[in-house]
Amino acid sequence: DRRLRVALLGAGSVGSQVAALLLTHQDELADRAGVALDLVGIAVRDVDAPRDADLPRELFTTDAEGLIVGADIVIELMGGIEPAREYIALALNSGADVVTGNKALVATHGSELFDVADQVGATVSYEAAVAGAIPIIRPLRDSLAGDRVQRIMGIVNGTTNYILDRMDREGSDFDVVLADAQRLGYAEADPTGDVEGFDAAQKAAILASLAFHTAVPVDAVHREGITAIDKTVMDAARGAGYVIKLLAVCERLEGAAESPTGEAISVRVAPALVPRDHPLASVHGANNAVFVQAEAAGNLMFYGAGAGGVQTASAVLGDVVSAARRHIAGGVGVGESTRANLPVLPIGRVTTRY
Ligand code: NDP
Ligand code: HSE
Repeated sequence: DRRLRVALLGAGSVGSQVAALLLTHQDELADRAGVALDLVGIAVRDVDAPRDADLPRELFTTDAEGLIVGADIVIELMGGIEPAREYIALALNSGADVVTGNKALVATHGSELFDVADQVGATVSYEAAVAGAIPIIRPLRDSLAGDRVQRIMGIVNGTTNYILDRMDREGSDFDVVLADAQRLGYAEADPTGDVEGFDAAQKAAILASLAFHTAVPVDAVHREGITAIDKTVMDAARGAGYVIKLLAVCERLEGAAESPTGEAISVRVAPALVPRDHPLASVHGANNAVFVQAEAAGNLMFYGAGAGGVQTASAVLGDVVSAARRHIAGGVGVGESTRANLPVLPIGRVTTRY
């Protein structure tokens, strides 16, 4: 009777749903993973804070480090850089596999954490870090590993899509819809990350790193948010037959004179005018959509819930089941350190028409 000890760090919008699903579906998850997954504790700041799900009080603790040591799988859903980074390093060094949804951390300290994981033969999985429930990390890292990705374009932030969509369709006020996005659990703890495009830039850096097999620093991503878009701008776009979407674009550039090899990449996030008959124009609410153009595969499109607690919990649990299977098979981590360091050329604005 094999069992794995699962420790959860954070019980907010996503973490509370992950805990609820781990407990509700424990038999089914054990069948899928080939091993029982015991949720042994949940680290939070305030054990008495109200939660989105009804969870056993005795699981909660403020002693994250005590919980991590001895766990087989650590799920980090606290967000932010520190102490998340320190806790993930501790988990890896204690022999655990790590699952995280923390794009801010993966985009800024991913290489360092993947290196630690490679050294100790563990994994850091982060399917939930980009585009919520949509499987996009594994398709880029695994399914398309034999192809040559040319371009990725899409809507990768649910909060801003939700805001822009309601401003467009209902004429709603920016601040009112932002507050709704926060209440619905779409926004980051500090929603500046969403509305100023930092969250989308972190996701674009992660996607570009995977797609182009290079380390794309988030600082190299050209970034514009949506705070300058008001009713006047919305009305003008609508009048001209467009809808405004915050787009992330990652492109392979051939013949780049600035690059010694002639090859470079461009990664950028900015609001764009999208024609109303374009498929991206019909991405509503907190949904996301990612188009991938690859040399052999041609055009692929990934669509679905880009934010939200229970939706994102799906991606987290997929990683947990994979980590559990790998853990009991005694396998070593999938190497993430395949970085060739292509130059990143941040090229101005996203063009206004696709
Ligand atoms: P929340 O802000 O809702 O929840 C954060 C949780 O972490 C809270 O339970 C909080 O405890 C706990 N926490 C924060 N700091 C500490 C600390 N120092 N020690 C112990 N516990 C701590 O975040 P979300 O659930 O929305 O997001 C979690 C992660 O998932 C983030 O990285 C986010 O970017 C990512 N993500 C979120 C999505 C979403 O739709 N919300 C979608 C995809 C990814 P307490 O409750 O006691 O304050
Ligand atoms: N705040 C993020 C968003 C959560 O709105 O897209 C999902 O990554």
